[in-house]
Amino acid sequence: MTKRVAILISGGGSNMVRLAESMTGDHPARPCLVVSNDAGAGGLARAAAMGIATAVVDHRPFGKDRAAFEAALTDALEAQAPDILCLAGFMRVLTDGFVTRWQGRMLNIHPSLLPKYRGLHTHTRALEAGDAEAGCTVHEVTAELDGGPILGQARVPVLSGDTPETLAARVLEQEHRLYPMVLRRFAAGERGRVDL
Ligand code: GAR
Repeated sequence: MTKRVAILISGGGSNMVRLAESMTGDHPARPCLVVSNDAGAGGLARAAAMGIATAVVDHRPFGKDRAAFEAALTDALEAQAPDILCLAGFMRVLTDGFVTRWQGRMLNIHPSLLPKYRGLHTHTRALEAGDAEAGCTVHEVTAELDGGPILGQARVPVLSGDTPETLAARVLEQEHRLYPMVLRRFAAGERGRVDL
């Protein structure tokens, strides 16, 4: 049966667009919802232009009450009955309760070669460490931040003269290749790791 995929974003949504575009033809999944915690996220208009249902659950009125924010987020998600959640630049840390609810059904893309550089500022940290290569990782989301089972990685060289911005752009190109590839396999029930 065709799987329903909800994509969670906070920003421009370039990964979301690539995921949504990939789900055509014999792909085992289709996008059912794009949801953002920020009404200003550029990706919302891009999703709407692609004919995908959108929703906004602003985290700010909930203050520090993450569980209440996630309850509202869960309501918005459940309204579309997704089988799979894809975090695609969704910049909120999730509680154990939310993660447990979706565990085994939730993917994330992270702009580093995990387990290196969990959290933020990954490209700056890779440059400061003098790394010869950088990349991105798609992993299952577990309660450990950026720590779930790795489903795929793509590598790029770090070039002399790179700035965090030039490196981020090189990595983002690979994110756009890797995430659709991993989602397709995941939706088909394959859990083997992809390396690009
Ligand atoms: C991507 O580079 C993604 O890997 C990163 O945010 C960017 C979102 O770009 N995610 C994280 O840093 C998660 N901790 P996009 O909105 O254009 O897809």
